[in-house]
Amino acid sequence: MSLLDDLEAEVAQHWAGQSDGAHDIWHIRRVWASCQRIADGLDAPLDMQVLVIAAYLHDIVNIPKGDPRSKDAAQLSADHAVAWMAARDLPGQEAVAHAIRGHSYSAGHPCETLEAQVLQDADRLEALGAIGIARCFTVAGQMGAALAHGHDPLAQGRALDDKRFALDHFETKLFDVAQTLNTAPARAMAAPRVALMRAFQVALADEARI
Ligand code: ADP
Ligand code: NI
Repeated sequence: MSLLDDLEAEVAQHWAGQSDGAHDIWHIRRVWASCQRIADGLDAPLDMQVLVIAAYLHDIVNIPKGDPRSKDAAQLSADHAVAWMAARDLPGQEAVAHAIRGHSYSAGHPCETLEAQVLQDADRLEALGAIGIARCFTVAGQMGAALAHGHDPLAQGRALDDKRFALDHFETKLFDVAQTLNTAPARAMAAPRVALMRAFQVALADEARI
């Protein structure tokens, strides 16, 4: 079995019965596709075996938002990846663990290797653009939030509250995410995605306002 087939099988087996439109096998495959695109645009050597394992297993332990253990998900996913690699006697276990720990917004681990930076960028691109908008509203739906505040959708006269209004999440987090990308290729990929989100934000606010 190829490494990629082995990783696909691991995600399929571990996530069987789980349905989360923001974290499904397509999220994993897109993150890996973005990792390869970013890597192609970088003039630097990268360990692609480390990157493919880190990309496929970065969310393998997926704890729902709101669960107090969700802040440990990246560490638990890193531990899972190390055990998976050890069972196959694969090299690069610490490099994979470092990249997986570093990808999370919330855990605050620095990305000290290029592989970690590329994975973090690829995962952050998932929060931007059309995919980012779709994921935002999927997660907001899981949390029971409204699409937008009907009287003040852009929060000009109220505090932002992304637990209650999906559109608020653009300002509380998503536009900031676009500012924190590590690599030039990812920043180039992000620019049109941010422009689309700005246009969507205005359009949704105009339609939602009553
Ligand atoms: P990660 O899974 O990389 O740790 P998050 O769970 O914060 O990061 O984000 C995953 C997705 O969930 C993102 O696309 C983000 O837009 C969405 N998301 C997180 N929090 C909210 C929220 N309060 N409202 C809407 N979407 C959210
Ligand atoms: Ni992810």
